[in-house]
Amino acid sequence: MRKKIVAGNWKMNTTVSEGVALAKAVAAKSVEVPAGVGLVVAPPFTHLVPVAEALAGSKVGLSAQNCADHEKGAYTGEVAVNMLTDAGCQYTILGHSERRQYYGETDEKLVVKTKLALEAGLKVILCVGENLDEREAGKHFEVVTNQTKAVLYTLSAEEMKSIIIAYEPVWAIGTGKTATAEQAEEIHACIRKVLADKFGAEVAEDTTILYGGSCKPSNAKELFAQKDIDGGLIGGAALKADDFIQIALSF
Ligand code: 13P
Repeated sequence: MRKKIVAGNWKMNTTVSEGVALAKAVAAKSVEVPAGVGLVVAPPFTHLVPVAEALAGSKVGLSAQNCADHEKGAYTGEVAVNMLTDAGCQYTILGHSERRQYYGETDEKLVVKTKLALEAGLKVILCVGENLDEREAGKHFEVVTNQTKAVLYTLSAEEMKSIIIAYEPVWAIGTGKTATAEQAEEIHACIRKVLADKFGAEVAEDTTILYGGSCKPSNAKELFAQKDIDGGLIGGAALKADDFIQIALSF
């Protein structure tokens, strides 16, 4: 049985002290969330160590939002995978659309980063998703299929055990415009088929696929009720502990 997960991507929000307070509130409320639902928060790099301390002893996992494409050395401004594990992370998000769009993240780089993260023992939350032009041109299945294949088809079935996929249609991120449950479900089912084609039905069935893009307490239930939607990658609503936990209670 694949795992249900609700992960909060804090993006570039909160100061360190605000982030620690938010993490403490999430950890305190996490006792309300059933054991079968995993919780993860992804604060900015500067917050990782104190947030790890704030989460200690709780069920809430810790994720980075990105990692470097090199192991160490002269790469000013970058953060390596072993720094993330040492800081207390169990996960890293990779390939978020904001990184693809604003920071030139390519599929080729994501292959390198994914390998490094997996070798370091991190689980990877790989984001895929089409933009508005691609959706309007009817290319959403093709775009998501290509993004999924480009990174995940380089992995083994064993490595796939450490992969979580997040489908985040770019037009739904931070816009208040959520994909309908039907729009999300058909892409999730497509991703699962792409996995089955390469790795077989078992790996496809065991892989957690999250939805992200204006997911909030008012729409999470309908989204999470879909057969192939295993939880959410939450942006704005993850910045309020009550809303984040409410979403995690929507299965
Ligand atoms: P919002 O929930 O703010 O739309 O952000 C979604 C997202 O990009 C999570 O990674």
